[in-house]
Amino acid sequence: MENPKKYTVTAALPYANGPLHLGHLAGAYLPSDIYVRYLKLNHRDVVFVCGSDEHGAAITLRAKKEGVSPQEIVDKYHELNKKAFTDFGIDFSIYHRTSAQDHQKMAQEFFLELNEKDTFTKKTTEQYYDEENNQFLADRYISGECPKCQNPNAYGDQCEKCGSDLSPLDLINPKSTISGNKPILKETSHWFLPMERHEEWLTSWIQEGKIHGKQLHNPKEWKNQVTGQVMSWINSGLKPRAMTRDLNWGVKVPLEGADGKVLYVWLDAPIGYISATKKWAEENGKNWEDYWKVNQETGEADTKLVHFIGKDNIVFHAIIFPILLKQHGDYVLPDNVPANEFLNLEGDKLSTSRNWAVWLHEYLEEFPDKVDELRYVLTSIMPENKDSEFTWKDFQDRVNNELVAIFGNFVNRVVVLTNKYYEGVVPTAGELSAEDKVMLEEVKSISDKIGKSVEQYRFREAMGEAMNIARAGNKYLADAEPWKLIKTDPERVKTIMKIALQISANLSIAFAPFMPKKAKQLQVMLGIEKELDWNDLGSFSLLQENEKINKAELLFNKIEDELVTSQLAKLEKSKLDNILETPIKEEITFEDFTKLDIRTGVILEAEKVKKTKKLLRLKVDMGNESRTIVSGIAESYAPEEVIGKQVSVLVNLAPRAIKGIESQGMILMAENNEGKLSFVNPSEDYINAGDGVS
Ligand code: 2FM
Ligand code: ZN
Repeated sequence: MENPKKYTVTAALPYANGPLHLGHLAGAYLPSDIYVRYLKLNHRDVVFVCGSDEHGAAITLRAKKEGVSPQEIVDKYHELNKKAFTDFGIDFSIYHRTSAQDHQKMAQEFFLELNEKDTFTKKTTEQYYDEENNQFLADRYISGECPKCQNPNAYGDQCEKCGSDLSPLDLINPKSTISGNKPILKETSHWFLPMERHEEWLTSWIQEGKIHGKQLHNPKEWKNQVTGQVMSWINSGLKPRAMTRDLNWGVKVPLEGADGKVLYVWLDAPIGYISATKKWAEENGKNWEDYWKVNQETGEADTKLVHFIGKDNIVFHAIIFPILLKQHGDYVLPDNVPANEFLNLEGDKLSTSRNWAVWLHEYLEEFPDKVDELRYVLTSIMPENKDSEFTWKDFQDRVNNELVAIFGNFVNRVVVLTNKYYEGVVPTAGELSAEDKVMLEEVKSISDKIGKSVEQYRFREAMGEAMNIARAGNKYLADAEPWKLIKTDPERVKTIMKIALQISANLSIAFAPFMPKKAKQLQVMLGIEKELDWNDLGSFSLLQENEKINKAELLFNKIEDELVTSQLAKLEKSKLDNILETPIKEEITFEDFTKLDIRTGVILEAEKVKKTKKLLRLKVDMGNESRTIVSGIAESYAPEEVIGKQVSVLVNLAPRAIKGIESQGMILMAENNEGKLSFVNPSEDYINAGDGVS
């Protein structure tokens, strides 16, 4: 297929409510940066936009927690994150912010245009309200029990444990996250997006890449998990979603009678991609519409819009924002939404609140000269199709066994030997042997291989191809043994070294999208002054005879065990701090306590509840009766492990239906900070089923 005229590449705007960690990088920013660097090496016309998402409950709740204003929060984290991205080599065309006036204006105009086009329905509904704080409670302002997985800390928009999309009215025992109070219901009016009206075209667009018969993208290029998630949303029936909120932090709704209302953050934020492009265009003598709108004359999209995001953002980028763009008219729709899965850390989910993370700004402070090493490792383990895991030991292994032992070793030998044998002057090659020709062919094929993988968003594979060349080069040199041959056949050594030098120069191009700093350092070492581009990859005349290279310096250094130990100790400390910091719940009276009737039970039967991951259906002997209890312990215990176990049971909890089964009580469990559960059980054999626990 012909290349598009332009590329509009977006990376999810991170909330300016905290620092960035490795999960952010591996999810959206590193893949998008690699993609853009590759496009630019091919001289394609690209704009790469990002910025801070500065509205929404993520910001205001953080401000409240720190006792400062939302503005102070976003100012602090905008600067911190912007610098971290720059230092990590993420080369955005612009890093904008959604609190900027120009963005707010554009978001308001966009909303008004949509409103004119009857995109919304205005409805008055009852919503939860915190009387103490005089505030309606949407999204993260309200929490309660998830009706699907019983997680007690689900939010009003989503349950983070099972990933379900929720609305505040779905929550069991809702409470305000600001005051902890039980909310009341109160009427309020909002502008809703009736998403169900768009199911038909969305289905054809997602499944066939077509709208009204017109082919817009190739659906086979989309990741299965993205298409799957979108289709599962559509198949379970899209519902109207409020596009405005009763809050005083955000973009004001620009309509009469909308005092105290702001745009929903998920309407405002993606428009941030457009306002960022506009600002960049103004500062660089370009026309922003060329990067967002359909060509008026041809009716075709001249730009390829690609949204890089993490999987938690799929619905917003592949359903809601496309609806808004299409409703507005003239806009192109995303050609792809290559969402990544999640990165875990040392066996556990990354978590800001539990401080279970490797913070980017801290890494950069501690290891300012190891930026590309981290880019390399994160690309090697990028969660492209399934969740993956970062461990410090693996980081050490990959750096030492791949970067140092293969790539670094090869380049170092080449530069050292060229200096030693020829005082750094590129030698003249003689006739090529069969091995030389095989090596040349391998290098020639690399540009296409890497290119194809990158254009299909397979960055692990792409970088693997680059590494294969380093591997092949290393082997070529080890087999040819120029250090032995120099005594007997110095002419042949010239050919070997010339080839090895050309391979090194090729590596500096092949790795440029992945490790830009090291690629540049290698070019400087090889004395290459001109800007190399992707067309040069595969060439064997990158270094000319008689040109001079520079002295050898190590591209990579070994990661010592101490680094791994100290980083693990740092994480261990977060774990401990967390345990100590788990707040003690509100005080209760002795009378409150005596209301709980806890007795000893013995598990008689256990089986998994179908279509659930966590639930076991148990039959428990309570001495005088047996009870059915559904318990969320299946990830800690297999059914056969629990039979015969003595457990403590809260027997006067009101029965409730879980997955259609009436659960008659609750089993008491202890939980460690990794979520692993253990029974709280009597330990002496004179305690029998039915005995009281107090
Ligand atoms: O999930 C998040 O961090 C959001 N701030 C992403 C927004 S992406 C886009 F819509 F701006
Ligand atoms: Zn849930």
